[in-house]
Amino acid sequence: MPPLKPFSEIVRAVPPSGIRKFFDLAQGMQGVISLGVGEPDFPTPWSAREAAIHALEHGATTYTSNSGLLALREAVCTDLADRYGVRYRAEDECLITSGVSEGLDLTLRALLNPGDEVIVPEPCYVAYAPCVAFAGGTPVPVALDPAEAYRLDPVRIGAAVTERTKAVLFGSPSNPTGSAQSASDLAAMAALAVSHDLWLLSDEIYDRLTYHGTHTPASAAPGAWERTVLLGGFSKSYAMTGWRVGYVCAPEPLAQLMHRIHQYTMLCAPHMSQVAALEAMRTAQDDVEEMVADYDRRRRLFAKGLDELGLTCPEPGGAFYVFPSIRSTGMTSQEFAEGLLEQEKVAVVPGDVFGPSGDGHVRCSYATALPQLEQALERIARFIA
Ligand SMILES: Cc1ncc(COP(=O)(O)O)c(C=O)c1O
Repeated sequence: MPPLKPFSEIVRAVPPSGIRKFFDLAQGMQGVISLGVGEPDFPTPWSAREAAIHALEHGATTYTSNSGLLALREAVCTDLADRYGVRYRAEDECLITSGVSEGLDLTLRALLNPGDEVIVPEPCYVAYAPCVAFAGGTPVPVALDPAEAYRLDPVRIGAAVTERTKAVLFGSPSNPTGSAQSASDLAAMAALAVSHDLWLLSDEIYDRLTYHGTHTPASAAPGAWERTVLLGGFSKSYAMTGWRVGYVCAPEPLAQLMHRIHQYTMLCAPHMSQVAALEAMRTAQDDVEEMVADYDRRRRLFAKGLDELGLTCPEPGGAFYVFPSIRSTGMTSQEFAEGLLEQEKVAVVPGDVFGPSGDGHVRCSYATALPQLEQALERIARFIA
C-alpha cells in the first residue's frame, strides 16, 4: 500500500493521557485498591435513574432542542441564581452539553484563533492543555505554589500575559489539588482579566463538593460576568459520569457561537440523561448532601493519615482529591506510583501528568470506601518504610 498522507500534526503532537496508562496497569492486577479514578463510588441517585427509566418507557429516545430541554436549562439557571447570585438567561446564555468535556471544547473552539495563548495554571485537569491545542491555541502553563495552597496568584499569572493571551483556564475546586479559590483571589483574577482584556474560563464541575462553606463562582467576582464562561455538570456532584450531561453558561454572543458548533457536531446531549439530570436537580439534594458528608469524613481521615506519614499536602477544600508531596521519599512521582502499584497494589496517579510542576506529588482520589482508604494508608506506610 502506498504511504498514507500524514495525520493531523496538532493531534499527533499531544501525548496520550498519563491517567489512562495507570488505569490500564491497575486493571490487569488482582487485589488493587484504586485511588486513581476521578469518579464517585456512589450510584446515581435512584430518583434520577427512575426518571430516566420512565422517560425511556415513554419515548424520550429522540433529539431534544439543540440547546437542551428548556426545563433543564431553567433549573440550572435558577439554581445558579439561588445558590450563588449569578444570573444567566435560560433561553440564550445556557447550553446543555455532553458533559463539561464538550463544554470545554466548545468554549475553546468558539473563542480561539490560531496561535492565541491560553494561560493554564497547573497542576490542573489533564484535558485543559490538550483541548487548547486541539482548538488551535497555545497553552501557556503557569505553576501554582503548594505553599500557598495552589491559590490563583494574579502576580504569577499576570507575569505570563502577552499580546496573544486570550484567556485563563482553571478549575475550582481543582482536580487534582482539591484547592477551592477564595472570593478575594477570584476578584483579583477578574481585575487582571479586565485590565488585560482576557476571558476567564472557569470549570466548576465540583461546585457542590466543597467542605469549607459554599463555592464561589468566578462570574460572581466584580466585573467578571461579561468575560467569564462557567462550565458546570452533573458527573461529580450527582454521581452521573456515564450519563454525559453538563452545561455551559456565558454571555449571549459567545454562548451563541458555542451553540453553532454544538448544533453541527453534537446536536444535543442524550435526551434520557437530560431528563435524569433534571430529576436529580429537583429531588436528589439530600443524596448529594449525604455524599458530600461521606466524602468529607474520608477527606479528613485520609489527609490526616498521609500527613502522619510525612506526605504533606495543603488541606483540600473541595472535590475528592488530595495531592500530597512525596518529595520526602526521594522518588519521582512516576517511580512512587509505579513502585506503590507493583509492591503494595495501591493505584495513585503520578503528579506530573497534571503538569510539570506536579512532579514530586501524587494524586489520590478518596472517592473510595473508608475501610479501603484505611487499608491503603497501611500499604502506603509499608511502601515508604
Ligand atoms: C475538572 C474536571 N473537569 C471536567 C471533567 C469532565 O467532566 P464531564 O464528565 O462532565 O465531561 C472532569 C472529570 O474528571 C474534571 O475533573
